[in-house]
Amino acid sequence: MPSLLLLPGDGIGPEIMAATKRVIEYFNAKGAGFELTEGLVGGAGYDADGTPLPPATLEKAEAADAMLFGAVGGPKWDNLAYDLRPEAGLLGLRKHFELFANLRPAISYPALADSSSLKREVVEGLDIIIVRELTGGVYFGEPKTIEDIGNGQKRAIDTQIYDTYEIERIARAAFDLARARRRKVTSMEKRNVMKSGLLWREVVEATHKQGYEDVELQHMLADAGAMQLVRDPKQFDVVVTDNLFGDMLSDIAAQLTGSLGMLPSASLGAVDEKTGRRRALYEPVHGSAPDIAGQGIANPIAMIASFGMALKYSFGMLDEANALDDAIAGALADGLRTADIAAGAPSIDTEGMTDAIIAQLE
Ligand code: NAI
Ligand code: MG
Repeated sequence: MPSLLLLPGDGIGPEIMAATKRVIEYFNAKGAGFELTEGLVGGAGYDADGTPLPPATLEKAEAADAMLFGAVGGPKWDNLAYDLRPEAGLLGLRKHFELFANLRPAISYPALADSSSLKREVVEGLDIIIVRELTGGVYFGEPKTIEDIGNGQKRAIDTQIYDTYEIERIARAAFDLARARRRKVTSMEKRNVMKSGLLWREVVEATHKQGYEDVELQHMLADAGAMQLVRDPKQFDVVVTDNLFGDMLSDIAAQLTGSLGMLPSASLGAVDEKTGRRRALYEPVHGSAPDIAGQGIANPIAMIASFGMALKYSFGMLDEANALDDAIAGALADGLRTADIAAGAPSIDTEGMTDAIIAQLE
């Protein structure tokens, strides 16, 4: 039986998770057989157990095939020590399971193509994924210092480091993903000015030759890639890149589509040699939206679409994932909008949007 750990978190997390649970139960009624457990994380973990990542939650996470994470954080906990704050719960999970591949899709629903800052024809039907390396590179490399060098001058040093195995595993993750999609990977680096870029390209090439020839591989310099992402984003399928370039390129890609309440993400770890399953955490890109928490008006689509990513990438249930994508697009095409995407027009609440998506599935 496929198993899922639900981690609602705090803020709007519990509301959008309740909506997503209804969608999961719909698939269970059709025989999907998901075994669900729930755990406390973030502010909810701190309030109950004095820690944003209670040991009981970590135990459940060890046992589950994948995690669905709502959102965490808010003014109530902002004055706590850094490692007690809700956000530390998410970082703790990423670190514990070494979730090194961050997947940020940019999906533009036809019904919402006018909310992009780009022309409708450039973004309509867009469906790409940025795969960002998340645990290595310049954000973590040592030395990392600011030192006095005399004469009133200081010197800041950050160090970009990538080892072969880190590049190889992110490349494999990208090729595996592309196989469940349109089978095209574009790797972005700066091999013209960076040694890490040279090694990046060499290792991605070598990994491609190890059984991934059915996937088309293309290379681009990251700055040229940024231009192409805005000029003609639909040319891409999967883009794989390092931590620093990925931070920026994934934000560019997210903005192509317009709305924060619509964007899912995944963070993937290594394949466990014994169980054959890949560690995975699926979550919306948005935060806990404390300004609207408790009102029942949050847009559940990013969370529901995060479950859709789990269907595709953790469970290989491509038909179900496509049906869910179509149901979301269908509800939007019917003109249904939560307040965040209604642009002032009449809107429905979290439950209303969930009803509409389930009705579309039926
Ligand atoms: P946010 O994403 O929570 O909210 C930004 C704006 O978008 C707000 O006006 C909010 O109401 C709206 N919004 C976000 N998601 C929405 C949805 N599903 N439906 C309707 N409207 C939605 O970002 P913000 O305000 O910067 O951060 C709030 C808290 O969330 C902070 O404590 C922050 O640290 C935390 N956070 C947590 C993340 C996570 O759990 N992965 C990611 C980003 C922020
Ligand atoms: Mg960023």
